[in-house]
Amino acid sequence: MIAPDFPQATSGGDLSVFGLAGARVVVTGAGSGIGRAAAVLFAQAGADLVLADINVDAVEASGDLVRAHGREALIVPTDCACPAAIDALAEQAAAAGPIRGWCNVAGAVAKQTVVDTDPADYARMLDLNLGGTFWGCRAAARRMIPHGGGAIVNISSNAADEPIGGLALYSMTKAGVNMLTRTLAHELGPSGIRVNAVAPGFTLTGMTAPVGTDLDAVVARNAARSPLGRVGSPDDIAFAMLYLLSDASRFVTGQIWRVNGGVTMP
Ligand SMILES: NC(=O)c1ccc[n+]([C@@H]2O[C@H](COP(=O)([O-])OP(=O)(O)OC[C@H]3O[C@@H](n4cnc5c(N)ncnc54)[C@H](O)[C@@H]3O)[C@@H](O)[C@H]2O)c1
Repeated sequence: MIAPDFPQATSGGDLSVFGLAGARVVVTGAGSGIGRAAAVLFAQAGADLVLADINVDAVEASGDLVRAHGREALIVPTDCACPAAIDALAEQAAAAGPIRGWCNVAGAVAKQTVVDTDPADYARMLDLNLGGTFWGCRAAARRMIPHGGGAIVNISSNAADEPIGGLALYSMTKAGVNMLTRTLAHELGPSGIRVNAVAPGFTLTGMTAPVGTDLDAVVARNAARSPLGRVGSPDDIAFAMLYLLSDASRFVTGQIWRVNGGVTMP
């Protein structure tokens, strides 16, 4: 026998918790790949978007896709490797209304051995992938705390779980994103802010399909590593991000969601 006020296991059929109706969501790296797919999906789920990217033409084009779904898109050209630029992004976003969701997606990959790395390479990768996420979380939290909560989604990588020669810098930044995510879940939970990360596996975007790659061979090699027999699409990652932003995940925080077709199962 359970107490009468014990939370019931049924949603009462209300699936709106899976949506983002009326929410304002910031997405960095929104000009391409995963960030663009997420922005469009969030618009379809009812959110208004604040889109940031260093590539102005690309993020403007993402804004058009959001508006085509009847939602607002505020475009803020931003270099996410620069903490002051991220604060300026947050100021503009907050001026438009309370921020309920913030996704730190902007990132880059560098393939080089440690032996061949110089301090400028190190700073570039750390400043964007880890610094951009760190300062993005701070900016988001500072705006969400006065409004009683929100959700932050960071983008990690399966590279944080498996050592791959030539990817030390990239993997270090993503491992840092994982620990930042878990630490912040503790710091911000009492303020009603949930912090999670999605760790994609190989996903077909501009990052993984640069001009000149033998794409068929790369895709086949990565698909063969997955029990599902394929590589990821930006939408595969965006679906997980939507869940983690929405109230459907209201009891989920501090988690690293591996969306990689089962390539790693730590
Ligand atoms: N594609 C994959 O296989 C994969 C796997 C794991 C993790 N990720 C992560 O997913 C995220 C998105 O990558 P993607 O695959 O969509 O790549 P992408 O290259 O398609 O998109 C990255 C976006 O970030 C923007 N960007 C780059 N530098 C920036 C800066 N300094 N300031 C602001 N914006 C900047 C780019 O202009 C681009 O629009 C990255 O954090 C990446 O590390 C990707």
